[in-house]
Amino acid sequence: MKIIVLNEKEMKNIMNMKDAIRAVKEASSNYSKGKTDIPLRANLNVKEYNGNSLYMYGYVPDSKALGVKLVSVYPDNPKKGVSACPATMILENAETGEVNAIMDGTYLTRLRTGALSGAATDLLAKKDSKVFTLIGTGGQAECQLEAILAVRDIEEVRVYSRNIENVKKFIERVSKGKHQRFVACNSSDEAVDGADIITAVTVSNDPVFDGKKVKKGCHINGVGSYTPEMSEIDEHIVCNSNVIIVDTMDGTINETGDFLKPMKKGLFKKEMIIGELGDLVDGKCSGRKSDNDITFFETTGSAVFDLVTGQKIYELANSKSMGQIIEI
Ligand SMILES: NC(=O)c1ccc[n+]([C@@H]2O[C@H](COP(=O)([O-])OP(=O)(O)OC[C@H]3O[C@@H](n4cnc5c(N)ncnc54)[C@H](O)[C@@H]3O)[C@@H](O)[C@H]2O)c1
Repeated sequence: MKIIVLNEKEMKNIMNMKDAIRAVKEASSNYSKGKTDIPLRANLNVKEYNGNSLYMYGYVPDSKALGVKLVSVYPDNPKKGVSACPATMILENAETGEVNAIMDGTYLTRLRTGALSGAATDLLAKKDSKVFTLIGTGGQAECQLEAILAVRDIEEVRVYSRNIENVKKFIERVSKGKHQRFVACNSSDEAVDGADIITAVTVSNDPVFDGKKVKKGCHINGVGSYTPEMSEIDEHIVCNSNVIIVDTMDGTINETGDFLKPMKKGLFKKEMIIGELGDLVDGKCSGRKSDNDITFFETTGSAVFDLVTGQKIYELANSKSMGQIIEI
């Protein structure tokens, strides 16, 4: 059996953000049409080492994508000099069940999560959007930035996080070779004032910006919240946006505090969500109707996006003879 092994650097050379956005649109469309088999994530507790091993697996027939992403959550790892959340994607040949590829699951997650915001922004944000605000400068942030730059002609990028020194370091790292003006913001008010697009990608349990300060016509991506306790998007946005789209209905409605908290107060109903990203891709629901509409996209992620994006990376690597090959 011949297996292609791909690290982050090789994956970056193989697939750019525009290709990744196309891949997640294909994944979303298949998911929303019910043409995927994505079981609930399996979870093993490894209590001896204070760890959890998660298995995100599934099958997307139209994309010939079959496999599993192994994600481990080991909070004590940093003390050992190891990532607290190592991840690896394993893809199989759908025709034979043999393993085709092993790739860096951490980078794959960042790429496909950025691509999800990119796809939603492409379909929902005003075409002439110029000012982008990024809130959060952690592991996911750079791909979130790349995704917005891939779909709109952005002139100014504003970055805000809890720690201004981290913001400055982030800007120094990601702005190299880019023509946009980067601004390190001292407050979220400063960051969102006049912004055309806002992406929140934080681990916060409370809103990270004041929704009432958001200008009409803005598009917002909520990426970080994936538990009932976490919520980074102001209720004002969640309850008053003209268009709300989610990556997967089941995931978002059951997992994210962005929806669950206002729902508990009776301020938000599932019916206020217009549809899934796949419905929007396929024209089954409408997006923005006017330049004054506020549009909101919420993502909690799903194995379907890893599978299809990973499969496309594998196919490109195979056709270009890239990556390391191992035989077992
Ligand atoms: N939707 C998806 O598919 C998907 C995929 C991967 C990760 N995520 C989630 O995205 C979130 C971010 O991931 P990461 O790897 O970048 O995390 P990280 O821990 O590396 O970074 C978190 C960032 O949030 C910032 N932050 C926290 N509280 C804040 C606040 N109140 N105001 C402003 N900034 C604040 C921190 O300063 C930091 O920059 C996590 O919750 C993660 O689980 C979602």
